[in-house]
Amino acid sequence: SQAKVFVTRRLPTELQQLQEIADVEVWMERQPPPYEVLLAKTKEIDGLLCLLTDQIDRQLIEAATSIKVISQMAVGYDNIDILSATARRIPIGHTPGVLTDATADLTWALLMAAARRVVEADRFTRGGEWRTWEPDLLLGPNVTGATLGIVGFGRIGQAVARRAKGFETRIIYTSKHRCEPELEESLGVEFASFERLLQESDFVTIHTPLTADTHHLFSEPQFALMKQSAILINTARGTIVEPNALYQALSNGQIAGAAIDVTEPEPIPTDSPLLSLDNLIITPHIGSASRQTRKKMADMAIENLIAGLKGERLPYCVNPEVYQ
Ligand code: GLV
Ligand code: GLV
Repeated sequence: SQAKVFVTRRLPTELQQLQEIADVEVWMERQPPPYEVLLAKTKEIDGLLCLLTDQIDRQLIEAATSIKVISQMAVGYDNIDILSATARRIPIGHTPGVLTDATADLTWALLMAAARRVVEADRFTRGGEWRTWEPDLLLGPNVTGATLGIVGFGRIGQAVARRAKGFETRIIYTSKHRCEPELEESLGVEFASFERLLQESDFVTIHTPLTADTHHLFSEPQFALMKQSAILINTARGTIVEPNALYQALSNGQIAGAAIDVTEPEPIPTDSPLLSLDNLIITPHIGSASRQTRKKMADMAIENLIAGLKGERLPYCVNPEVYQ
């Protein structure tokens, strides 16, 4: 009989190719399937196509006795218990590369918007407060000539650095693995310790995955090291930044501002004190949200899923150890 597949949301692409080889069920609601529904589905399927809003934990993976592949439409996979999947030799697919540029673009959009107070200025204008041109109205720091600190220097961190050229920024980065000198030179970046990066940067931007090492990497001690004029950008994962410490740092003037596309938890609770701050911009996890990028991500997730259903090696596999 044909393979059974569950897709946890409507995707921005055609499913035809997948439907040719599998019975495809798509969850049509706007909200993700509740955990219990996902758990029940997972027991009966050969392949799962999921999103970062689906909690793929050990219980679910152990219940998925017929599953051959889990394909996530995202580059990050901190919602999936990879160790449990690997122990059961279930390959996990993800979508690296295709969303690098879109995410780096949004990072710069947030950086510029926070520096030049674009969101605040729009509110000011719509609020009827624009009375005249004023020498000191809505001032912010220079972006040109600033020091940009990049925390995590994988594909996305490097794409952010490449975009900095026109702004004549000094770029320092910190990363688990230092790059080759040739790459540092061609990107015009300098390696620094995390501490020095925090102390010297006018803009600090986060591009690490969420792991045990980066969980709450930014908390009170890190904000205390940053310049009072500094602006923090986070387009990576919300849980890398401790939200209470961020609130304290922004409300006490320990740092000047922040712009975040990700929060802890997601969505941000409507009573979060962060929502009351003028020096914080919050967008709803839209780093990869260009039409072209989302289609490519969906296509890539389908490609991984099809390969897994056919028993072939996933083209973009998180845990290639399963093939050893
Ligand atoms: C989005 O956050 C992703 O990981 O693709
Ligand atoms: C993610 O794509 C990264 O490696 O930065």
